[in-house]
Amino acid sequence: MDYSKLKIPTHVAFIVDGNGRWATEKGKIRSEGHKQGFLNLKKLTAYIFSKNIKYISAYLFSTENFKRSEKEVSFIMNLLTNQLKDILNFCHENQIKAFFSGRKENLSKNVLKAMKEIEDETKKYKNRIFNICFNYGGHTEIIDATKKIVKDVQNGNLDINTLDENIFNKYLYQDLPPVDLMIRTSGEQRLSNFMLWQNSYAEFYFPKTYFPDFDENEFDKAILEYTKRDRRFGGIDYEN
Ligand code: FPP
Repeated sequence: MDYSKLKIPTHVAFIVDGNGRWATEKGKIRSEGHKQGFLNLKKLTAYIFSKNIKYISAYLFSTENFKRSEKEVSFIMNLLTNQLKDILNFCHENQIKAFFSGRKENLSKNVLKAMKEIEDETKKYKNRIFNICFNYGGHTEIIDATKKIVKDVQNGNLDINTLDENIFNKYLYQDLPPVDLMIRTSGEQRLSNFMLWQNSYAEFYFPKTYFPDFDENEFDKAILEYTKRDRRFGGIDYEN
């Protein structure tokens, strides 16, 4: 689809959901769904960035996902380490700067090493920003930011009276623009602790499609829907 005449979002965020159901309905094991989700994520992000959308966030592993079976958790963790070369090639080919948001606790040394390598190798890119939420929780992000703020106030590095939304944003895991369009696949209609601060004025889109099947065509539909939304940010549209 031609995006050149459309009002496109600056920041699109995904709650990647439905990998497990996609696999189960095909008689496959859940991990097969995560593998397909991973392949689709690469295709989809390359497409979205090619449309001049600058920021993509994806919720790939929540702090709560550790409650899943050890087998499933280690499959997702191993994707990062086993596919490291592939992920790096993908980022270089598409000139993507990728980084991770979330807590480092509970992640293995190998996973942390892979994450650092991805961040270090891609930090030179400036125009396509991929924020990977991994071991991420929206509440913990706000708590972690608050702790850093309190420390800076105590150290005399921040005057509490100057604290506003812009400064608060800088204390989050990443200093990103607000999310414009938040897509959760699979028909669930919840935010599930995802980017609570950044999603405050986002337009929400909840397709029924499971993530492995959410392709370029599905994304075009989301964008067409987004262009129809009347974003007032708390104001009034006096034209209507
Ligand atoms: C949600 O589907 C998906 C996840 C919890 C994992 C998403 C992970 C990937 C797409 C691959 C990870 C890639 C890297 C690079 C680490 P679900 O399992 O909740 O699906 P269900 O609701 O149908 O069970």
